[in-house]
Amino acid sequence: MISPAFAADSAPFSSLIDVNFILINRIFVLAVTLLFFTSIFFIRRSRSQEIHPRIMSPIKLSIFGSLLLYAELAMSGMPSYQSVLQGVQTIIVLVCLAKLVNYLILDVYLRIHTQREVPTFVRDTVRLVVYLAAGIISLRLVFKIDLSAIVTTTTVITATIAFAMQSTLANALSGFSIQTDNLLARQNWISIKEKNLFGEIVNVGFRYTTLRNLENYLILVPNSVIMQSVVTFHGSKESVNKPAIQVDVMLGYDMPPEKAKSILMQALRDDTEVLEHPEPVVRLITLNDSGITYQLKFWIDDPSGRIRVQDAIYSRVWYSVNRAGYSFPFPHRQIISSEAKAPFTFSREHIAEELRQSELFAVLEAASITAISEQAPVMVFGPGEAVVNQGDGGSSLFMVLKGSLEVSVDGLVVGSIHEDSFFGEMSLLTGEPRSATVSALSEVWLAEVTKELMEPILVSNQSVLETLSSILAEREARTIHSQTIENDATSAGSLRKEDYLKRLKSFFRL
Ligand code: CMP
Repeated sequence: MISPAFAADSAPFSSLIDVNFILINRIFVLAVTLLFFTSIFFIRRSRSQEIHPRIMSPIKLSIFGSLLLYAELAMSGMPSYQSVLQGVQTIIVLVCLAKLVNYLILDVYLRIHTQREVPTFVRDTVRLVVYLAAGIISLRLVFKIDLSAIVTTTTVITATIAFAMQSTLANALSGFSIQTDNLLARQNWISIKEKNLFGEIVNVGFRYTTLRNLENYLILVPNSVIMQSVVTFHGSKESVNKPAIQVDVMLGYDMPPEKAKSILMQALRDDTEVLEHPEPVVRLITLNDSGITYQLKFWIDDPSGRIRVQDAIYSRVWYSVNRAGYSFPFPHRQIISSEAKAPFTFSREHIAEELRQSELFAVLEAASITAISEQAPVMVFGPGEAVVNQGDGGSSLFMVLKGSLEVSVDGLVVGSIHEDSFFGEMSLLTGEPRSATVSALSEVWLAEVTKELMEPILVSNQSVLETLSSILAEREARTIHSQTIENDATSAGSLRKEDYLKRLKSFFRL
């Protein structure tokens, strides 16, 4: 039966597989395949069992192969056609043989051995190995290509194939791990948060793991995704330690937590799918803007009932809450209207007290003190802030109620002013621009006494005018001294005091 060409070619490969054996026994292989699968066909038919394509296709193939064999014999006088037919026929024989081997391993040996359906992953792996072997042999026999020699000697091809098969290999290797992991066995429910997946494992294949979600969709998840993601195990109907289900319910602030907890617990107990053990738990979790959040923790037998039970519990809670005379919270927003509040508050009594202690107003009678304290606005300055600037116009005097200030002329510090003292009297009394810049050294509280407020006081209190004149003269002298223009500050000050008094009297028409 073997052609001379095949006999010659097969010699170098005999070390791998006894090719001659296959070639010589082509009829034998076809006959055995046909006989074996036909018997299976009739047995299954007599038992009214399903006839899989994996039974029908080898029958058809072996019949076709036999016909080709006959054609090959008939064309013995036409060697070119004969060799083509021979090639096709060899492939068919090898495929038949592969199908026979697959069936014997998967549907006979493993089925009898494990007494259950062979997992898709094992089925795929065995098929892949067997077909790969058949493919390599047909490449050698029909196309005279020694694949192993090419792959091992050509680094580039090896690298290319390895690169191209990267993800396939990753999935296949991941498939092996998934297969060996009990938590990832069929019928277990898992979720992959980052992929938003939740479903029951229905199959672990060579490249994919198939999940059936709650909507009954089949989702093919690449094995490598499962291996690289955080997978949450939700158990199965059979698992002993089932994970809890947690749902949140928000109820209003008008419902006391004890009442809320008892309504929620009752809703859980009334559901037949919620297990009695472990006992359900209801906890107050947070006090939110609009209401109080309670967490319901419970266990159910069948992970697929998750949404169904959640629906039943929420519905029951709604009725119970409304029956109890409460409603569910909605976003609340309270609008508070109020006047802007000054950051500092000063009591007029406090200001009057400060005025009484001051060097300028200590001599005044109570009525004048009250008039100033009630009419003088109080201002607060922070450290470093200038109250008056040199050269600016101004007609107010400032009483220092709290804090200290620094006086500078042309950038040169000429003096300082402390609590119970005052400044700004020069412009007020003379009408001239501010003679110096006065800045706060600390937080200062100042009562501003305007010229209008000061005038009647000066008219009725000569002593105030005198005090002012002397302080004014003294400060002027100190300023001049600081600027080293005048040497005899005291004599210049006393002279000036009289000058000022005269000027002031005429200024206020006294
Ligand atoms: P007036 O000129 O209105 O504005 C700046 C104020 O600084 C001035 O009034 C005085 O009250 C005050 N002043 C000027 N020189 C001195 C000084 N040497 N020591 C203390 N206070 C001063």
